[in-house]
Amino acid sequence: MSAEEGDHFKQVDAVREAFEREFERFVRFRGIPLPEDLTLGNAEGFLRELNELRTRRTGRKSDLANLKKMIGRVSADERAEFGQRVQQLEANITQSINNSEVPLMSFVGLAQMERERLDVTLPGRRPRRGHLHPITIVQQRIEDIFVSMGYTVEDGPEIETDFYNFTALNIPPNHPARSSQDTFYTEDGFALRSQTSTVQIHAMQRRRPPLRVIAPGRVFRRDTPDATHNPMFFQVEGLLVDRRITLAHLRGTITEFLRQLIGAETRTRFRPSYFPFTEPSAEFDFSCFKCGGGGCRLCKGSGWIELGGSGMIHPNVLRAVNIDPDEFSGFAFGFGIDRMCALVYGLDDIRLLFENDVRFLEQFN
Ligand code: DAH
Repeated sequence: MSAEEGDHFKQVDAVREAFEREFERFVRFRGIPLPEDLTLGNAEGFLRELNELRTRRTGRKSDLANLKKMIGRVSADERAEFGQRVQQLEANITQSINNSEVPLMSFVGLAQMERERLDVTLPGRRPRRGHLHPITIVQQRIEDIFVSMGYTVEDGPEIETDFYNFTALNIPPNHPARSSQDTFYTEDGFALRSQTSTVQIHAMQRRRPPLRVIAPGRVFRRDTPDATHNPMFFQVEGLLVDRRITLAHLRGTITEFLRQLIGAETRTRFRPSYFPFTEPSAEFDFSCFKCGGGGCRLCKGSGWIELGGSGMIHPNVLRAVNIDPDEFSGFAFGFGIDRMCALVYGLDDIRLLFENDVRFLEQFN
């Protein structure tokens, strides 16, 4: 055997060794059981790499293909043996790859089936439904009660001019409520409304008397939060303007409203008070829903709970919107919705309403 001829056989060995080195990492997939760290994801990866290895080692441009081309060129006396060795090598490579590929493929098939398996007897997962915020629930109940008494529900801007927030409501220029210690102002001099009473003016400008309107909404005051205060809270404003309206209508209306909201046994009382936009003015209290009026911790021993302000609309307010106070009179009131909400649900701290803790909020659904 000449040196040159011997090289052919060495090349066969070299190609085998190169394959075996590269194939070594796939040997472990040859038999059952397959390695424990095998997952659908990495098994698919190994299969892809095995396929690439097959192309590289047996494809048209592979070293093996070159060896096959050499068969016809080696000398006649070596050709048979050389050809056999090359064929043997090809068979070995193909077999090795198949031996690891087949178990991997059946693993992937089973894993895919497992992933797509559907247990039709499992109970469905119910989507978690949202629900209304307790303030909204109470606001809607308030609206329903007043709508049943013939009121319309109005909306008004939360950012107001001086005229709507103060002047038209008969609040004099030096009144403390105007100070920036009590009211939030924008840089260009608008006020975040500090009470829903501003909607009275919009409502009376929009429509002429007789009118009955409520306006629930957000208001803003520079208060430090505590159990009964927040810098942002909700009020409901009420307004009725007609001929020959008296304090008795106000009292009857509020009493009926509270009877429907809180219960038939609720008693109410007027306390004389002062507001620039009403004359006379009164605060409205109702008998404590917890103790029924005997006095308890919730009502601070008085038996009464404060609801808000009310009164007969001041003639100056009517004049500010060109309604003749000699022809028309009316009443107005403004109650805190957050407090009503706290009372209806027996909360002892209104800050809970704005902390957005779902464990708290989902109790009201
Ligand atoms: N706006 C008053 C407040 O926030 C409550 C109020 C009092 C509203 C008398 C009225 C009213 O409409 O007539 O304290």
